[in-house]
Amino acid sequence: MIKISPSVLACDFSRLGEEVRAMEKAGADMIHLDIMDGHFVPNISFGPPVVASLRRVSDMFFDTHLMLTHPLSYIDGFAAAGSNRITFHLESENDAGAVIDRIEVNGAEPGIVIKPATPAQAVFPYLHRVKMVLVMTVEPGFGGQRFMADMCPKIAALRDEVTKRGLDVDIEVDGGIDAGTAVVAAKAGANVLVAGSSLFGSGDYMAAVAAMRDRARQALYQG
Ligand code: DX5
Ligand code: ZN
Repeated sequence: MIKISPSVLACDFSRLGEEVRAMEKAGADMIHLDIMDGHFVPNISFGPPVVASLRRVSDMFFDTHLMLTHPLSYIDGFAAAGSNRITFHLESENDAGAVIDRIEVNGAEPGIVIKPATPAQAVFPYLHRVKMVLVMTVEPGFGGQRFMADMCPKIAALRDEVTKRGLDVDIEVDGGIDAGTAVVAAKAGANVLVAGSSLFGSGDYMAAVAAMRDRARQALYQG
């Protein structure tokens, strides 16, 4: 099933709560929260207090993308703030198994994300322990970059492995996703689409979410 996860990185931060609620009303399946530490990536965004504020105004599923060098130290804080899924970078400095354990102890869903240079196979040992694998389709750190179409074989390799092993793991893509690149990513095997600028930059959130979902649905990978 195709799911749309708008990234608030591209919203009007002075009206953050309203923006999240607007996407909820527009039919988005979840909301993507990009957490940056200024170390793992050369940018800083926001932390648990902001997530907790959003939790008070929205019942949406919070799809939390941690771009942190030391995710382990922050799992408890984001879970307590209301993150439903916590996705951490395999390239971070913490042991992936330990991070997954910590997310599970907190009752959140674990996800793993890989940067463009990291191969699909690096995630295989953890596939049975996560609900989602996020394939970055840009270098993490900034919104508004161009979709890297050469990530498609990696998406397909992950989708094939998930199918082969009979697992129920979502494949998410993040970076440069609009209605056109959503089709390319879905064809390769992605079913959760993160989009910042293309959705928050649109004049009509409901129409933009629906168009992306419809086009990707028609393209969804058949195996
Ligand atoms: C980039 C973030 C993305 C970003 C996507 O590091 O992980 O979620 O917000 O933005 P767009 O859709 O504008 O490429
Ligand atoms: Zn993200």
